[in-house]
Amino acid sequence: MNKTDDEILGKAYDSKLMKRLLKYVKPYKKYLVFAILMNVVVAGLGPLRPVLIKIAVDKSIAHKDLHSLTIITVILFSTLVLQAIIQYVLTYFTQLMGQKIIFDLRVEVFSHVQKLALKFFDKTPIGRIVTRVTNDIEALNELFASGIVMVFSDVFIIVWIFIFMFSMSFDLALITIAVLPILIYATFLFRKKVRDIYRDVRFYLARLNSYMQEHITGISIIQLFNKQKSEISNFEKINADHKKANIDSIFYYAVFFPTVEILSSLAIALIIWYGGGKIIQGSITIGVLFAFIQFTEMFFRPIRDLSEKYNIMQTAMASSERIFKLLDNETIISNPSEPKKLDKLRGEIEFRNVSFAYNSGEYVLKNVSFKMEPGQSIAIVGATGAGKTSIINLLSRFYEIQEGSILIDGVDIKDISKQDLRKIMSVVLQDVYLFSGSIKTNISLNSNDITEEEIREAALVVGADKFIMEMPQQYNEEVKEKGATLSVGQKQLISFSRALANDPQILILDEATSSIDTKTEILIQDAIKKLLMGRTSIIIAHRLSTIQSADKIIVMHKGEIREIGTHQELLAKRGIYYKLYQLQYKDQEISIPIQNRRDLNVN
Ligand code: UTP
Ligand code: MG
Repeated sequence: MNKTDDEILGKAYDSKLMKRLLKYVKPYKKYLVFAILMNVVVAGLGPLRPVLIKIAVDKSIAHKDLHSLTIITVILFSTLVLQAIIQYVLTYFTQLMGQKIIFDLRVEVFSHVQKLALKFFDKTPIGRIVTRVTNDIEALNELFASGIVMVFSDVFIIVWIFIFMFSMSFDLALITIAVLPILIYATFLFRKKVRDIYRDVRFYLARLNSYMQEHITGISIIQLFNKQKSEISNFEKINADHKKANIDSIFYYAVFFPTVEILSSLAIALIIWYGGGKIIQGSITIGVLFAFIQFTEMFFRPIRDLSEKYNIMQTAMASSERIFKLLDNETIISNPSEPKKLDKLRGEIEFRNVSFAYNSGEYVLKNVSFKMEPGQSIAIVGATGAGKTSIINLLSRFYEIQEGSILIDGVDIKDISKQDLRKIMSVVLQDVYLFSGSIKTNISLNSNDITEEEIREAALVVGADKFIMEMPQQYNEEVKEKGATLSVGQKQLISFSRALANDPQILILDEATSSIDTKTEILIQDAIKKLLMGRTSIIIAHRLSTIQSADKIIVMHKGEIREIGTHQELLAKRGIYYKLYQLQYKDQEISIPIQNRRDLNVN
């Protein structure tokens, strides 16, 4: 089995981790202290009952004293009520504390994840991050809400029972705990077995989950290629492994619990035999025997529970280790200590000998240099994988470059705060991403600076307003996760509106390659033209008209700039651009508007 972080189970107690965990408890220390104090009280109430029963049997019943019997019954009943009330308060406060702690922790993990650089996400599956924020933090809740406090409670109950038992009858107490070594050994064995199996269950569950997730995401491909049957049989295999691991664990539970029962019955039998003998001899009273039978029953439960608490501790320790590992991840693109301000942005961009690799050593951009004047528009073209998207990833400082520098208005982008940098530019990415919410919030991204009029204005300019107004709820129309209810072209127009609503000085556009119908194509071309007006813009172009209207065209090939020039200049050169263009022209012949075709000059 190839184990990942998720299946590793470590120690049940790790002082370093615990120390760090307790920092989160600190703000709620009073809850914890209160809970533990309450526990000391409530733990004593249960073991007090056999003592009361002993008195009832020996004093009241034996002496036919109805009055004192009534009093003891009332006291007994009161302890039960008191116990119920304290238990209620205790449960409420410990759960409250647990929820408050995991609330803080979730916020911390989420905000940390938001800060991480894209490099981290390139390497970490989304499912794993989600597990941290959900399951792992939930495991900690269990630790805080019941684990820690309940361990105290169980220990106190055992202590109280010991105190009462030994003060009542020393040798009967010894007999009761005679079975203890066997019980402890059985518990130890059980815990070890269950722990191993639990690890397997987790492993198979993780596989089950990722298989489900992947195959639901790719459901259209599976259905298109008629792969349902084979996928189901694959799933059945994983599911069967998972079932088997669970059944194995059931086996141990099925053996362990009856064993505990047998041991407890054995202890009671011993007490009746030995205690009964002592009653006949007259050295103890019947009440003592009664009390001991109850002590024995009471005594086994916390011991059995402690083994369960052990599992909670262990899971929580492993979870906290994973959470802290994520929180300690420092894949962060740091802000400069003294950021420079760009007053009166002109919008000049320069790449100076930039070399960049996503993975060290494998350069995807090599010595890239170009400069654009304010208000100019540049188109980048090149084969797939040439490094076009990488250029804009660098400009918005999603990744750190290895060599060279990128300057805006002569200032290195490393000296500008990331917030400022991203405020001056809008980027329309190749894959449009819409969030669940409304069309309105998808355009404004919940920014308070953007008014409803500006949203509408932006949509009008790029031509999205028309189809939005045709929807039943118009701008309030609900957008489902990933914008599943919208067409590709519609999504693109919404993302254009999003870029425009921010009114950026610099606009960057990674044109989507997906082919759309001619009508939408014209609509989008038109939208792009309007987007570019008066801004410095970089466009990764796939469409002919976009390329032609650019001030400058950069031709990328395998991470290097091979040609720079205007459309006409590059065509005249008969180099890479000429070839690319010819290829495109052939492909797109049918969809090019007539007037454009006349512009082409290549026949
Ligand atoms: P780009 O993503 O810059 O290529 O990847 P591109 O020119 O935009 O391609 P298209 O037209 O959208 O298809 C450049 C190189 O960087 C690698 C890719 O494998 C490619 O060879 N790359 C990209 C990474 O190693 N990691 C990434 O996260 C992205
Ligand atoms: Mg790309």
